[in-house]
Amino acid sequence: MTAVREAVVLDPYDYGFQDDPYPTYAWLREHEPLHHNPELDLWALTRHADIADALRTEGTYSNSHGVAIEKSAWGPYAYKVMSILGMDPPRQKRLRSLVSRGFTPRRVHDLLPRIQELTDRYLGECLAKGSFDWIADFAGKLPMDVISELMGVPEEDRAEVRRQADIVVHREDGVYDVPPAGAEASLWMVSYFIEMVAQRRRRPTDDLTSALIQAEIDGERLDDDDVIAFLFLMVVAGNETTTKLLGHAVHHLTRRPAQHDLVFGGGGDSGRVALWVEETLRYDTSSQLLARYLLRDVELHGRVAPQGSKLLLCLGSANRDASVFERPDEFDITRSADELAPILSFGGGRHYCLGANLARLEARVALTALVERARSIEVDHDACRRVHSVNVRGFAMVPMTVEVR
Ligand code: HEM
Repeated sequence: MTAVREAVVLDPYDYGFQDDPYPTYAWLREHEPLHHNPELDLWALTRHADIADALRTEGTYSNSHGVAIEKSAWGPYAYKVMSILGMDPPRQKRLRSLVSRGFTPRRVHDLLPRIQELTDRYLGECLAKGSFDWIADFAGKLPMDVISELMGVPEEDRAEVRRQADIVVHREDGVYDVPPAGAEASLWMVSYFIEMVAQRRRRPTDDLTSALIQAEIDGERLDDDDVIAFLFLMVVAGNETTTKLLGHAVHHLTRRPAQHDLVFGGGGDSGRVALWVEETLRYDTSSQLLARYLLRDVELHGRVAPQGSKLLLCLGSANRDASVFERPDEFDITRSADELAPILSFGGGRHYCLGANLARLEARVALTALVERARSIEVDHDACRRVHSVNVRGFAMVPMTVEVR
């Protein structure tokens, strides 16, 4: 007789789920692809096809209440701090076009020498120690400094801006709403941006902040509130997510000695870095869950999620869907670029991540430098500590030892 497994409930607040959400996703994909958690009154989609469809369907899956389910983040005013991420078309489309006038591929590409310099500095400090915490000493520093560079935060302010940005996104275990320290740091950040925008209005430079102020389409421009909300969004959307990507990359690679040797063995093969990054994004992405507010009933797989519901798009589950990826639960950096192309780690459709190219560039530069300078890397997996968070998945601490080439 086959054992019947009890029905599974997706609870994003549950530590067990946060430690390893993948068995829950697997069960839901198979047995309840449109899932309802009655206690939280929360719906969830877990199959790749359904999520890809939801990301691209207009007029049903709304961002108007934001994308995070924390009490103080969810609601019709989410756009005030989340900018375009908390809006629907046509306003999101118009503002995104304006912002894109400043946030151009060229501007991201021009950051390359600075990303390299920052990488060399922080990695040099790590290698000199031999043993260090990859998050505190490297991955937690690089992304925010790159965003500061992009926005035009002067060198002397960067350490403080990074410190405040960390407090904005930091959550103690078991705290599921924005804590007072986080609210205070957010205020500090907004005041800082108000001053920076005022300065750029007086004296424009060639940074993103100046470009956002000057961007114009059909006579329309962004006002100060729009610029400030967008700068704030970059800190929230682009900082911790990229830190966690770098953490997962070394964590998962070092769990598989054969894969580690493919990259670090011999003289090192930095040609493998790009697919190592993509496979990390697929296998264990930092942005696992996106919330949507339903503007109309959604009928799928024989049940109905009613209009007005809160529904989660489980990106981390889509990336493990066996109908799209072979052996989805295996971390394998030898997958082809074609196989990895459908990953949904950066979303899709109208809200597709504006920073995807920047995140990839940072990860590639950082990991290439690591491969070029280290003969081998070792991670103390038992001592790694995950953050317990509803919004991001990743490590707060990754103790690492490096043998220099
Ligand atoms: C590994 C790193 C990153 C991941 C996994 C990630 C993930 C995502 C996802 C899933 C979305 C779509 C949200 C939705 O559909 O509601 C998004 C949107 C966005 N991301 Fe990223 N992101 C990363 C890095 C960055 C960086 C470095 C920046 C900028 C500095 C950035 C800026 C944005 C912005 C501005 C949006 C909003 C776009 C819109 O609403 O139209 N992200 N990101």
